[in-house]
This record gives sequence, C-alpha cells and structure tokens, in this order.
Amino acid sequence: MDNQQAIEWSSKVLMNFTTRYPIALVRGEGVKVWDSDGKEYLDFTSGISVVSLGHSHPKVVGTIREQAATLVHVSNYFHIPQQIELAKLLTEHSFADRVYFGNSGAEAIEAAIKLARRYAGENWSSDRYEIITMRGGFHGRTLGALSATAQEKYQQGFGPMLRGFKYVPYNNLPAVERAIDSRTAAVLVEPIQGEGGIYVPDHDYLAGLRKLCDAAGTLLILDEVQTGMGRTGALWAYQHWGVEPDLMTVAKALANGFPISAVLAKEKVAAAFTPASHGTTFGGNPLATAVGCATLGTMLEMKLPEQAARMGSYLKDALERLKTNTSLVKEVRGKGLLIGVECRGPVANLITRCREAGLLLLTAGENVARFAPPLIVDEPTIDRAVGLFEAALASAAT
Ligand SMILES: Cc1ncc(COP(=O)(O)O)c(C=O)c1O
Repeated sequence: MDNQQAIEWSSKVLMNFTTRYPIALVRGEGVKVWDSDGKEYLDFTSGISVVSLGHSHPKVVGTIREQAATLVHVSNYFHIPQQIELAKLLTEHSFADRVYFGNSGAEAIEAAIKLARRYAGENWSSDRYEIITMRGGFHGRTLGALSATAQEKYQQGFGPMLRGFKYVPYNNLPAVERAIDSRTAAVLVEPIQGEGGIYVPDHDYLAGLRKLCDAAGTLLILDEVQTGMGRTGALWAYQHWGVEPDLMTVAKALANGFPISAVLAKEKVAAAFTPASHGTTFGGNPLATAVGCATLGTMLEMKLPEQAARMGSYLKDALERLKTNTSLVKEVRGKGLLIGVECRGPVANLITRCREAGLLLLTAGENVARFAPPLIVDEPTIDRAVGLFEAALASAAT
C-alpha cells in the first residue's frame, strides 16, 4: 500500500477522529523512519514522546520476540513474574511503594482518580471527592480523564463531563490555595504541561503545591505520562524540583511503544484498592511488562535521562540561536528533550514544510512546534534537524 492508497483507504474505512499527515510510515530504525513510498525522515515526534530508545531497538525487538513465543497473556487472576519485576524496577527508582498497570495514559489517569476518591472517601469523608486540575492541561480522552482536562476544545460535544473537577490556572499557587476546601480529594497536575504548549512552571510551583496539599491533607497526583521515563532530562520530572507526589501516572515511553501504563503510589494511598475494587483484562500482561522491563532497564543502563538532559540543552541552544535570524520564533521553552518553539502564528504550514524536507515534528497547541526526538538522538542528528527546521522557517517567512 503506497502513501496515496493509504490516504484513500483511511478515508473509507477508518473513523475520521483525527487529522493525519498524508504519509504512511512503514519502517523505523533509531531516529529514522521511512514512508511507504520509500522516503526517509528524521522522527522528532517519537510517536508522541513514546519511542525513547529509538525505533526497532534490538533489546526491545528481542524481548518482544522471546516473550511472544513464551507467554503473551494470562490475566490478573494469576501472579505475573514480569509484572513483579517491572513494579520492582519502578519502585526502586521512584518515590512509590506500589504499582498498578494499565494499557494507556488515560486508563492510568482513570485509575488514579478512582484511587484518590476511594482513599479520600475512606480516610476523610464520603463527600470529599473533588479533584483540582489546571487549565491548559491534558490528561486523556476517556470521560474521567476528559473531565480532568480543562480545555474546552477537547470536551466540546461530549458533555456532560463528570462532576467533581475544579479548574484553576496553571502555575498559579494562590488560585490553588483558594480552590482547595474540605471537598478536595486531590490536586492533579502535569509537572510540565505537554499537549497544552510545553509550559515549564516557576521553580517553586511544585514545592508550593506539595505544601498546599500537605496543609489541607490532600493528595498530590503528578501526571508524568509524557514527562516521565527520562524525557525531561531526569527519570521523572518531579526530580528536577525535589518534590514527591502521592500518586503518579506513567505511560507513553514505558515500553517503547508497546501499549502499557502504570499508576505509582505510596503505600498508604495504594491501600485504598482492595481485591475486586478495580480491574483490567490486559493491564500488566507478561508481554507488555517484559517489554517494560527491557525498556526501563536499558534506559537506566545507558543513563538515558542524563543523555536527554545534555542533548536537550544542545537542541534548545541551537533553536534559541534561530531567534536571531527570524522574527517568526517567539519563544523556545521546555526541559530535556521536550521542547516547544512558539511561533508568531499557527505552525501547521511550517510543520508541513519540515515534513516535506524530511523532518517530522508535532504541534503542542496551535502556535507551538514540538521537538521530542528519541532520547538516543546525537549531536549530528540534532544539527541536521535544526538545519531543516531553519530552512523551513526561512521558506515560511517568504
Ligand atoms: C500528560 C498526559 N496525560 C495523559 C495522556 C493520555 O494518554 P493516552 O493517549 O495514552 O491515553 C497524555 C497523552 O498525550 C498526556 O500527554
């Protein structure tokens, strides 16, 4: 199936729920991918911050082959050694004592909301179920996660949203202080807003949230679905600020593209889930968790979070330098290898030009081009990508 046939068939047989770029990607290796007409691209999207070890990483490919030939699925009615190993790795390398596995970011958010409500109901009072979330945030498309996502454009047409969510501006501690009351079960926040436009909060923001939550006896839930697994130059973004949450959601890069997610929790909160209180058919199955072990293990072995910090600074500096040559770029922001270039106007056309020149980028909000390459990216590849972006900026300006 070539690109044109893929476009035609997509429009006939698939639900039209999203805008797709007019190419079909069929092969990948490291930071490179190829479309079905044979054209090569630098993939600075990583499949939306997912393929952090790069495409077709031998450790991931080998683990999938081996585990698929041994045992794929059994259900959570049985103990699953690979699941235990991944939970051990995650708890050894985070604040958490216990882990729950699901299949997608939204599913992890749903589980975190349920766990927080149950914890609050059992430990405080049955009417303490509200969750405070931040405007411009993104937590997923299922109804609970969508209700937590304080952006009208995602909620439009799907109402009514779930009760029990209160929205406040991001990076604004007084607003959270005013919003917290005796009904607040938790504050849910991305340590760096991703989909909303790559916004890094003020240095004291997370510590301030922690303090407010502690004072009110409320839980702090960090959504690290996009920022986790080394993406921002630390294994978890919260480590930049030395602030630990009570609960954390993780997904995207956890198994380098194999679907999986996790909720990490401190013991006292995790205890609110008791047998039969929650469940999943696929979540944490032997295949997904074996790939998760291979991914996280390789990442730690290669010290990829540290590498992401170094390559992120290199990329950010190079993008900053472009500001001197063009008035199109308004701001470059982000941390590690999650970087947004805010332009003076919509970037859709710019991203099309980049793609045509062989560089894949995504948006993060209408005016922001998102750079999120695999964490294995090196300096020469960054130089090439920035060169292509610079040329696209120059042609967009004419
Ligand atoms: C911060 C954050 N939370 C949750 C989600 C939802 O994850 P998923 O698309 O896997 O359901 C996303 C997806 O982009 C995200 O960026």
